[in-house]
Amino acid sequence: MDLSIRNLVKRFDRLTALDNVTLDVAHGSFVCFLGPSGCGKTTLLRVIAGLEDANEGTIQLGGEDLTAVPTRARNFGVVFQSYSLFPNMSAARNVGYGLECRRWDKAKIGARVDEMLDLVHLADHRTKLPAQMSGGQQQRIALARALAPDPSLLLLDEPLSALDAKVREDLRVEIRSLQQRLNLTTIMVTHDQEEALAMADVIVVMNKGAIEQIGSPRALYADPKTAFVADFIGRMNILRLDESDRGNPSFGGVALKVANIENAANDARALGVRPEMISLSDAEAGGENTLPATVSGITYLGNITRIEAVSDAQPDTPITVELHGASAVPKPGERLGLVIPAEALRVLA
Ligand SMILES: Nc1ncnc2c1ncn2[C@@H]1O[C@H](COP(=O)(O)OP(=O)(O)OP(=O)(O)O)[C@@H](O)[C@H]1O
Ligand SMILES: [Mg+2]
Repeated sequence: MDLSIRNLVKRFDRLTALDNVTLDVAHGSFVCFLGPSGCGKTTLLRVIAGLEDANEGTIQLGGEDLTAVPTRARNFGVVFQSYSLFPNMSAARNVGYGLECRRWDKAKIGARVDEMLDLVHLADHRTKLPAQMSGGQQQRIALARALAPDPSLLLLDEPLSALDAKVREDLRVEIRSLQQRLNLTTIMVTHDQEEALAMADVIVVMNKGAIEQIGSPRALYADPKTAFVADFIGRMNILRLDESDRGNPSFGGVALKVANIENAANDARALGVRPEMISLSDAEAGGENTLPATVSGITYLGNITRIEAVSDAQPDTPITVELHGASAVPKPGERLGLVIPAEALRVLA
């Protein structure tokens, strides 16, 4: 069932935590709310879960208005950052607890708990208490508990952020494949852009209580509409343009060709370009879209080499270039040209 959110406003005293949020979540999709601390991600998730009332706006699931439906009756699975398992109950009892509350009969609960423990590969740990399990195992139990009542919507609030890097990556894959197998509409809050890129069908980038941009990971990376999104997802070099005719952008006196600039929604005041889209040329060679610059730093990162170059036009903000594999690497202090393809430049609001 599709989830449809319209014009949600949530205020805490004078603070507007959600500022006119409108969003559609298609059935079976995996959506990430991504944004910096305090932007309203958890608040939005809590309003969807019914744990918090909105001041304005509506939420519908499959066409049914949720406003009057209490949290319990929504039948949504929720997993929070802290494991929040019942410490005095075994793994199996934790998984079955929601079913006991729903007064399922004993035999049915037993079978469902077994099925859920298998699903998260923890059948051997069924008698353990939460304190006897690792963080990753506890989070998988929390996931099994949320899935047991066969929810129509799964809501995850930073479920992986307390785990160490390796476990986090494994669980990413596990959650994603589970979600796809069950075709379960899922919303996950995260402030980790890599997590969002790796897991989501759709990313909702939030900033100060409002939605900044919605799109697939590829679309957001390739075509961010604002400097905020560009900066939050991946690295983006921002070129502040000369105060000349906006239709003919130039940077430090170098005219820049920008593909499809006529389609841009905004006047071009700043352009963005991803570090891996820039190549290097001889300083003297000149040529189209080539910025003269001096190498200020080099960082070897194994698969890539990251180069910081100070352009003559914008000395306060070095431009980052990422070279892949075994490309020839320049030396600090070297003069060179930064070559930027017209197709790689983005007009940013
Ligand atoms: N119960 C509350 N009472 C008052 N203010 C609140 C309450 N809950 C959240 N806020 C405020 O609303 C804003 C959004 O908070 P929210 O928890 O949704 O942010 P978030 O995006 O989840 O951040 P984080 O990444 O740090 O978890 C913050 O400014 C926060 O202080
Ligand atoms: Mg939060």
